[in-house]
Amino acid sequence: MMGFNERIVQDASRHQFLVPRRAFTDQGVFEREYRAIFDRCWLYLGHASELPQPGNFLTRRVARRPLLFTRDRSGEFHAMYNACPHRGAMVCRERRGKSPAFMCMYHGWTFGSDGHLMSLPGGSGYPEDFKNDPQKQMVHVPRLARRGDFFFVSFAEAGEDLDTYLADSGDYLDLVSQHSESGMAVVGGTQEYAVRGNWKLLAENSFDGYHAACTHSTYLEYLKSANGALGATPLAGTGYDLKNGHAVIEYSAPWGRPIASWVPLWGEEGKAEIDAIYAQLEARLGAERAKRLAAMNRNMVIFPNLVVNDIMAITIRTFYPTAPDYMEVNAWSLGPREESEWLKKYRSFNFTEFLGPGGFATPDDVEAIERCQQGYAASAGGGFNDISKGMVRADAPSFDDEMQMRAFWTEWDRRLAEAED
Ligand code: FES
Ligand SMILES: [Fe+2]
Repeated sequence: MMGFNERIVQDASRHQFLVPRRAFTDQGVFEREYRAIFDRCWLYLGHASELPQPGNFLTRRVARRPLLFTRDRSGEFHAMYNACPHRGAMVCRERRGKSPAFMCMYHGWTFGSDGHLMSLPGGSGYPEDFKNDPQKQMVHVPRLARRGDFFFVSFAEAGEDLDTYLADSGDYLDLVSQHSESGMAVVGGTQEYAVRGNWKLLAENSFDGYHAACTHSTYLEYLKSANGALGATPLAGTGYDLKNGHAVIEYSAPWGRPIASWVPLWGEEGKAEIDAIYAQLEARLGAERAKRLAAMNRNMVIFPNLVVNDIMAITIRTFYPTAPDYMEVNAWSLGPREESEWLKKYRSFNFTEFLGPGGFATPDDVEAIERCQQGYAASAGGGFNDISKGMVRADAPSFDDEMQMRAFWTEWDRRLAEAED
């Protein structure tokens, strides 16, 4: 077994936590990550609302594999490799839709939405029971599981179940679902973009409370001028380690939340609507949970690469590396089904204004990530990143400490060190 040289360096007595920059640039680390992390962990596939009816399907790439996610006639969900058992062509070439069957474009083998081989041209050229041969059916991913409406896959045949894996992050996923009485739904389609940076830079960035005041100063200034005194609500809160590499920051902030925190920009009419939503939340969830849900923002990373940010809008985001210095990002907006047109408008406005690829935040974050990646060339394979902020603190970590990143990196290090070569 070969050693693993890109270990993190922890020294509690000196309040120091260091990450080797090679972890972001090394080809060997990249390949090891696929074996140790992406081929073993539970990975986000999609949201139930994306397949609202029997017969709905979508195709998606998860950890380099093309997948077909379907709902069959009885409403059951399936996740299969999108590759023909005949000679391997992608069976479904559409992004999404509704169909009771999928015909491979190469030789016409046709499969049901549960993956079974329904028919094939020239059947007389094959033995009589050929169609029922288990080898000739579409292959299901080893494991598919859901937490509420969030679906996950694992490419490992065995391992801990999803709820055990999610540990304390499960309750935060449930909290997102509780925004709505009738269920949450993905609004619009998928945003796709790529970043010339290592994937772990985006994991770090997604729950980095430290960078907001600096990187996003333009947005914060804009909020202040749009919302007056209320726009000056400080960024303040706490970081929580959710175990197994997952972590979250929970904090107050100067922006409006569709569920349910009003800002002057939304006018008096908007205030009445937000007040009504808040009253419903209280009746449904109790005062404490309603207050937390409505007033606090949450940026969470579920290890290794599911981001759920419940901030001025809700975004779900995944990102996979195709090389040490390149990642492909998918992002979705989530909102309550029953939301009024007025609030939907503000939710979408908030989403594109801050989170969209052309908003106030994402381009700034992408710039920061790409500058980090470029900066690593200066260390020529050496050098360390410092993520020790807050280690001196005896009390709870502040939202702008770096405890979240330490939780992520500790799990990353554990998994890579344990993986067989
Ligand atoms: S590869 Fe699909 S039918 Fe031949
Ligand atoms: Fe950011």
